[in-house]
Amino acid sequence: FQIKTKFPDNFLWGGATAANQFEGGSNVGGKGLSVSDVYYFDEDIPKEQLSNQWLKMTRKQVEEAQDPTIKKYYPKRHGVDFYNHYQEDIALFAEMGFKAFRMSIAWTRIFPNGDEQEPNEEGLAFYDRVFDELNKYGIEPVVTLSHYEMPLNLVTKYNGWVNREVIDLFVHYATTVFERYKGKVKYWMTFNEINSCKHHPYVSLGLIDEDHLHLEQAKYQGAHHQFVASALATKVLKEIDSEAKMGCMVSYTLFVPYSCAPEDFQKTMDRQRDALLFSDVQVRGYYPGYTARLLADRNVVLKMEPEDEQILRNNPVDYVSLSYYMSSAVSAQPENLEGAIGNLLVGGIKNPYLPESAWGWQIDPKSLRSALNQLYDRYQKPLFIAENGLGAVDTLEEGDIINDDYRISYLREHIKQIKEAIADGVDVFGYTSWGCIDMISASTNQISKRYGYIYVDQDDMGNGTKRRIKKQSFYWYKHVIKTNGEQL
Ligand code: BG6
Repeated sequence: FQIKTKFPDNFLWGGATAANQFEGGSNVGGKGLSVSDVYYFDEDIPKEQLSNQWLKMTRKQVEEAQDPTIKKYYPKRHGVDFYNHYQEDIALFAEMGFKAFRMSIAWTRIFPNGDEQEPNEEGLAFYDRVFDELNKYGIEPVVTLSHYEMPLNLVTKYNGWVNREVIDLFVHYATTVFERYKGKVKYWMTFNEINSCKHHPYVSLGLIDEDHLHLEQAKYQGAHHQFVASALATKVLKEIDSEAKMGCMVSYTLFVPYSCAPEDFQKTMDRQRDALLFSDVQVRGYYPGYTARLLADRNVVLKMEPEDEQILRNNPVDYVSLSYYMSSAVSAQPENLEGAIGNLLVGGIKNPYLPESAWGWQIDPKSLRSALNQLYDRYQKPLFIAENGLGAVDTLEEGDIINDDYRISYLREHIKQIKEAIADGVDVFGYTSWGCIDMISASTNQISKRYGYIYVDQDDMGNGTKRRIKKQSFYWYKHVIKTNGEQL
């Protein structure tokens, strides 16, 4: 036996983005509106309430967003204009030595309303240009089919993923891009953070809260349809390109018991399973034994078609990808923990041993090692870390200097733990840190919550030159990649 003390030679170092936060150009090239294009930003919204519209969406907001007479600033329609800067941005990624670049295809660039028969050629041609540019530098694209950007029409006309018809529309979209980009894209993922539909069902499943009296029922039904769609897409991918790999993508917060009371331990396991259910189905190809109880506790009765079981079983994913930002404590009696509630967007329990970011996300590199071990012990399939990073306020100093030591320290500590996990025997084949270039925050719609190695001169209201400026972390990450993670 030999302990692996190094990252594998072909390790996929890189960065991650999503079309709806990065690309912009929402009114060009025939693109339609997506669910994310309805989020507006307004400087008067108090900071602590910014993520509320992400967690809950009203029909009135959706209607307003389609009314041209209402003048609001919708940041995700503009992103940071990768649409027009893609050559410059990819050249910067190449300068850092990226081996991989995770991005998503905007479904609405290919099928503006989601239910057309024929794809939009201009949209397809845009991604051809992007993939060719990446290929020029030997950067492997890792492509998510759906990253919080389903066509808005599928929400207003079909009611989102609760409607089974959306499965066929998604598979049609997936088939179109698999055929078009065969040979150009090897690594695919179906749904970004598929388990996060539990917390923000609008952006993940296209569910407007007030339309669903039993929202939990709608969420699990929608998720089931995504499982079937993901399995069918995996099947089609293999038929089109037997070399290509499909991954699932889960948001993996590691849960730890707040105390050593057995009740806290049980509750922690339940909370973890809440997320694991989503990878279990996609990796193993069947619903795990704890599903019946989990659904019954939520009063949910799933409607499945006779063929679904076989579809899931025959088409599991090839690899498991995850986003990891933090851990969270779990208590069976949170009401006794005054002042501790508040970790995570969804009110997890704060762990008193951990520091937190300016947005209240607790920082816990060591639990990344545990998370990787948990997932690998469970599935024995290769793991890909699709997201990890620190959202922070950066200051642009005179002479174009951005000293983001805090970001370097966050990333360094997490990468050290990946190395530990590799020494534990875990098969990790890539790491794409989140927001390798500043872009619009998913949850708060700010750009001032920055994650990048590259600063973009733009403010929360979209003002600025959009000039790209290298931060200190740019040079640091370049060296990390050059030394294959040996020098951190
Ligand atoms: C992940 C999402 O949950 O977290 C990304 O997949 C998102 O889309 C990232 O941007 C960071 O979250 P936020 O809200 O700080 O942008």
